[in-house]
Amino acid sequence: MRVTVVGTGYVGLVHGVVLADMGNEVVCVDNDPAKLEKLRNGVSPIYEPGVEEILSRTLANGMFRVTDSVAEGTKHGEVVFIAVGTPPGPDGTPDTSAVRAVASQIGSALDSYTVVVNKSTVPVGAGDMVEEIILEAGGDPSLFDVVSNPEFLREGSAVWDTQNPDRVVIGAKTPEAAKKLLELYEPMGTPTLVTDLNSAEMIKYASNCYLATKISFINAISRICELCDADVGAVAKGMGMDPRIGAQFLQAGLGWGGSCFPKDVAGLIKISDSFGYDFGLLKASEAVNQNQTPHFLRRLEDRMGGFEGKTIAVLGLAFKPNTDDIRDAKSIEAVRILLAGGAEVRVHDPVAMPAVKAVLPQAVYCDEPYATGEGADAVLLVTEWKAYRELDWARYGSAMRHRVLFDGRRALCRAEVEAVGFHYETIGSRPLLGTPVADQP
Ligand code: UGA
Repeated sequence: MRVTVVGTGYVGLVHGVVLADMGNEVVCVDNDPAKLEKLRNGVSPIYEPGVEEILSRTLANGMFRVTDSVAEGTKHGEVVFIAVGTPPGPDGTPDTSAVRAVASQIGSALDSYTVVVNKSTVPVGAGDMVEEIILEAGGDPSLFDVVSNPEFLREGSAVWDTQNPDRVVIGAKTPEAAKKLLELYEPMGTPTLVTDLNSAEMIKYASNCYLATKISFINAISRICELCDADVGAVAKGMGMDPRIGAQFLQAGLGWGGSCFPKDVAGLIKISDSFGYDFGLLKASEAVNQNQTPHFLRRLEDRMGGFEGKTIAVLGLAFKPNTDDIRDAKSIEAVRILLAGGAEVRVHDPVAMPAVKAVLPQAVYCDEPYATGEGADAVLLVTEWKAYRELDWARYGSAMRHRVLFDGRRALCRAEVEAVGFHYETIGSRPLLGTPVADQP
């Protein structure tokens, strides 16, 4: 099938190359010349495992190409996906200006029947909005249908998630439009739900907000565990053994970040408000999330007897492992708190350092993880990259001034690090008693 994807971010690019790899003729459209140049040369503008390999393969076999012209893309595609960003506006309402601009360009270029698909996360009702814009731009109503087909991929495993989705949701007004997408996804053999447009748009928000709330729930439990001397890891394990609850997304930590959960939670709160429903549960979930990192940093500060004059190492800056994305990353918040407290902050991340350096030039950027520990009074693990789980902690500690390890992701083995002399604290376990660093010799 001839497919066009407008937008080459995490969603658009991965979707485009995977569809090309399945044998579809794919054109990806972007208005950023630098991105297009990289893509033409087989270089992925995003760090996402596996993308570059498929990109090279599909460029070489001619199934994938790029252009800066939405009109060209519209004329090419029987199906045109809109996968441009919908970042939160100042009050949390999703900014759909990029979606609207693309819809208008599609409207003025339509010359044969096309299924226009909203892949971006858009407020409920945006399908109708796209339809209106296409009509206003001169699109012939008999030449298009608008469909909502939300994306459920996770950054870091985007290729796998796109190739192996656990469900395909298609929100359509006409059976013909749904049929076209069913045909496109048929080779994946995935369970599919066909619904109306608004329900499909709501499924995306409801899914992300439910997952974010599940994490906030376990993070709230982690706070009680710290107070009553229970261990949130054991609690999550016991809860997760109930199939009605499930074990996933019960990992307590510094809170959720990234380009999706914070934006979609804020977005659904606003959308609910606009329809006259006060979504208190979601507001509480957001509040728990906002408190989680400052709380753990306060625990570290108490342990240190203040940050002033201390050297603190930070391991991990990306919002989660296997991505270079730092949008709403808890690392930024943590480093800001440390710097504001007067600490020297030594950081490392396998891929996200350049992006963070641009916003926090005051930190010391280390080429490799062990260098962060040199002269450090404490180390804070923020992102649970595999490389950090596998560090030789005896070696790491030997360069530190004090062996204090605060694990913001419950990623390390307490027994292992305690065996090499670390004072180890983590989320959801009672702070350990002992002499604060400030009072140690
Ligand atoms: C999320 C959803 O999982 C995807 O299904 C969805 O398609 C995507 O948003 C999107 O809307 O595009 P993503 O943001 O890439 O995917 O990453 P997740 O793996 O969901 O992690 C989100 C955040 O939650 C991260 O900060 C992670 O550290 C945190 N998290 C996740 C926890 O703190 N605990 C957990 O148990 C799981």
